[in-house]
Amino acid sequence: MVDFCSNDYLGFSRSDELKILFQTELKNYPEYHLGSGGSRLLAGNHSFTENLEHQIAIFHDSESALIYNSGFDANIGLFSSLPQRGDTIISDEFIHASIIDGIRLSHANRFVFRHNDLINLEQKLKLAKGKIFIVVESVYSMDGDEAPLQEIISLADKYNAAVIVDEAHAVGIFGASGKGLVYDLGLSNKVFARIITFGKALGTHGAAILGSSQLKAYLINFSRSLIYTTAAPFLNHLAIKCAYTYLKSKDHQSEIRERIDSFTKNISLDVKLLKSRSAIQIIVIPGNEKAREAAQRIQKGGFDSRAILSPSVAKGSERLRICLHNHNSIDEIKNLCELLNRIV
Ligand SMILES: Cc1ncc(COP(=O)(O)O)c(C=O)c1O
Repeated sequence: MVDFCSNDYLGFSRSDELKILFQTELKNYPEYHLGSGGSRLLAGNHSFTENLEHQIAIFHDSESALIYNSGFDANIGLFSSLPQRGDTIISDEFIHASIIDGIRLSHANRFVFRHNDLINLEQKLKLAKGKIFIVVESVYSMDGDEAPLQEIISLADKYNAAVIVDEAHAVGIFGASGKGLVYDLGLSNKVFARIITFGKALGTHGAAILGSSQLKAYLINFSRSLIYTTAAPFLNHLAIKCAYTYLKSKDHQSEIRERIDSFTKNISLDVKLLKSRSAIQIIVIPGNEKAREAAQRIQKGGFDSRAILSPSVAKGSERLRICLHNHNSIDEIKNLCELLNRIV
């Protein structure tokens, strides 16, 4: 089936050019080890990884970057260690499961505000005690829409709160060379921390937390999902380095934008398409049975798109999640739209 399902938005995980770049680079390290040998606090730390962190920080306009084995690990490590007892974390109701689990491991109070609802966020801010952390995704994984970052930061200033942004689905798509939405909006210095992941548009695996050097030093000492796990192998970090080189080498963003535009233009106005500028496009088909049936018919037509059912999303908002990629041709996108218009 044609891939309208994976998070490989820029087609990096399958790119022959990137594979060649990786194989060529690998020749410079004939003595590499297959495994890292331990935690980054013991045998698993390498100057290659530290240099990579430095380059990633510069690219995303951050003081520092700390690499984790995955986005899940990064969120667990950050939210379980940073907010203390008596502090307050206020998160959007649609926040990713890894953040929810991280918050559950912390001793801080937790408030949830309605999705992208600034009035509701302010109500929660008024109730918050201790140090306050507001947590959002710049692009939401199950809706494809964006957080109103500028307005959230203004509110955070008013209540002296720190803003943390998960950029898993924005990196590679938004900002010059895919630096992310925070960078694109000129807010790099206004957010306390960003989580970026490498398993989506970067086509590899892993993640990093971007923030101050002080935050990095704190996490190295207190973030358990960094300390008590074997570091990812060199090959993984080399792949991340090559993915960044490839990201900078050409304008992948125009290609994905053309595909997103083609999709939104070719979908009929009768189809309930959520508003999204991202590579994630959502068609709401209420009811698990109906959503599942629509997905099956799309798949029979040769297109891989999956239904997202309740309770993963709220009852009545079941949906088809369509991810667009640079490896989708414009014709494939038009054919998918034609089928969707007929079926939905
Ligand atoms: C918003 C968000 N944050 C974090 C993660 C976890 O990242 P990883 O897949 O690298 O563990 C995901 C993965 O789906 C995600 O959508």
